[in-house]
Amino acid sequence: MDNIKILLIDKDKTSRKFLAQMLIKKNYQVIHADTGRDGVEKAAHEQPDLIIFDTNLDDLAAKELIEMLQKKPSTALIPAVVLSSQSTPDEMQECMQAGCAEYYVKSGMVTLTLVNAIPKILLEKKREHPEKKDGLIIVFLSANGGIGTSSLCANIAMNVAQQIHPSTVGVVDLVLPMGSLAEIVGAHDTDFNIIKVSEMPAEAMTPGYFQSKMLVPPQWLVHLLPGSPDPAMSNHLVVENISGIFYALKKTYDYTFVDLGRTLSKISLPIIHEADLIVLIVGTNQSTVHLTKKAWNYLLDQGIQKHKLFPILNRAVGLEGLTKAEAENFLGFEIKLTIPYMMGNFALANNQNTPIGLKFPNDTVSIMLKQAAFEISKQAIKVQDK
Ligand SMILES: Nc1ncnc2c1ncn2[C@@H]1O[C@H](COP(=O)(O)OP(=O)(O)O)[C@@H](O)[C@H]1O
Ligand SMILES: [Mg+2]
Repeated sequence: MDNIKILLIDKDKTSRKFLAQMLIKKNYQVIHADTGRDGVEKAAHEQPDLIIFDTNLDDLAAKELIEMLQKKPSTALIPAVVLSSQSTPDEMQECMQAGCAEYYVKSGMVTLTLVNAIPKILLEKKREHPEKKDGLIIVFLSANGGIGTSSLCANIAMNVAQQIHPSTVGVVDLVLPMGSLAEIVGAHDTDFNIIKVSEMPAEAMTPGYFQSKMLVPPQWLVHLLPGSPDPAMSNHLVVENISGIFYALKKTYDYTFVDLGRTLSKISLPIIHEADLIVLIVGTNQSTVHLTKKAWNYLLDQGIQKHKLFPILNRAVGLEGLTKAEAENFLGFEIKLTIPYMMGNFALANNQNTPIGLKFPNDTVSIMLKQAAFEISKQAIKVQDK
């Protein structure tokens, strides 16, 4: 038994000590509190695996204590067991209704029964609330600008939010020195962007912070952390804090999409390493394909694994250029998906801040975006499970 922590809340020191001794013998780690409020505070700070409390407390009634624990997300899921020294049928009913795992009336024998029941109580709680996996990180990058990386990142993220249920999706613009996603989705805020967030103290970057601050552009179904608003501002990016931002985002969203643009730098590399999937946008002209090959070889040299790659060929500039087979041949990897040329309609949807799938639902591009959402999600989950 590896360090299972148990919090005892009981004003009677002798009784607490008695139980603590039995628990320590079984290799549990024990934390003591002699008032209800002290117990609530220690539960939040110490994150015990189980709370055992006597209802006879000086400062809180049993119901108040349970409510205080359940109100905080950090303590709401910790199983609580009553070991009552002043039991009444009413109290018992009240505690069980409020969600306590078990109710015992204090005596020497019962204490032993309780100690023996702990593994079962912990297991039952685990079955009710299986540990939530971290969300997936999916980065978008390209070797060239102007080939649809940002537009595809925003639109595919939107399709994941729309098609895959249930899913929550965050989108982060990390293109330096200037982002464009806020422009594409039509979300404007002067004070919330990747630069400002990176300047915050690391401990302030919590899921709760992101849940309340991320922008919610109408129609897009995703939450946005906008990029640097202008080149001057990009110099203020606090690089050391980037990993903390992504740590919190993984705890906040099922999927976090990141637009990295064409930046392969000491800022983007750690995120590429961290990513579950790397969506590489490939253009169709010869020079772009050459640059793409160089960029991919560089990533391989950096230890990026092949099975994380998801290449998309995007015909952003017209019908001319290499075919899929020619591009694959030259690049040495399979293109997973081709997005056809959509002429001015793509730019039109962008200019109106509308997702392609809503503006032109019957266009082949909309169908391909849906397919991309499914395949990207499928491959990312597979990579994470490995
Ligand atoms: N498949 C496509 N068909 C037509 N236009 C496209 C297509 N993909 C991208 N575009 C256009 O290409 C331009 C550049 O897109 P953007 O997403 O900003 O590229 P990047 O992020 O690579 O610089 C936009 O005007 C967009 O509308
Ligand atoms: Mg871009």
